[in-house]
Amino acid sequence: MKLTALVHQRLRQLVKPGDHVVDATAGNGHDTLVLAELVGEEGLVFAFDVQQAALENSHKRLEEAGLASRVRFFEEGHERMASRLPEPLHGRLTAVVFNLGYLPGSDKRCITRPDTTLAALRQAVRLLRPGGIASVLAYRGHAGGLAESIAVSAFFQRQTGMEVETQDSPGPVLYIATKSK
Ligand SMILES: C[S@@+](CC[C@H](N)C(=O)[O-])C[C@H]1O[C@@H](n2cnc3c(N)ncnc32)[C@H](O)[C@@H]1O
Repeated sequence: MKLTALVHQRLRQLVKPGDHVVDATAGNGHDTLVLAELVGEEGLVFAFDVQQAALENSHKRLEEAGLASRVRFFEEGHERMASRLPEPLHGRLTAVVFNLGYLPGSDKRCITRPDTTLAALRQAVRLLRPGGIASVLAYRGHAGGLAESIAVSAFFQRQTGMEVETQDSPGPVLYIATKSK
């Protein structure tokens, strides 16, 4: 199974109608769409990306599925997520999803970076509810990708209160960290 499909499978097992979740790297909206399907009409997806083109692609995908009203889009770095999420939701998120790297079909110089990725991960750990997950799909083939993946791995190794599963592949590596109950 592709690691993107594995992430979606885990999300389908965990995320329930009425839940609140974050797509930390909206990109072309594939993960945002899965999350929007799962949170139902009462839940919400908070989707971040620094590129206008990415948010346009995501918004279009969600519009076409009739689910755009379930998503709040932010043209902002995920390292700002805590300041953008309503205070009552802090500590109550079910999932925060990161799909690192660059927007397929776009400028490969606009990539996620270790400092902002780790800043966002620190916030994600605080924002999750017990039993919630942070998933990080990290690609190592592009410039800076390997260093970012190593930084993410080291981050999770230092974390207490998170149980981390790692799935490696010849392409990306997937980290799924579950917050202790
Ligand atoms: C691999 S793509 C995401 C793919 C997406 N999850 C999908 O389903 O199509 C990575 C995205 O991260 C975005 N990005 C880069 N730096 C970011 C940051 N600091 N905060 C949020 N998004 C960022 C890029 O613009 C790009 O769209």
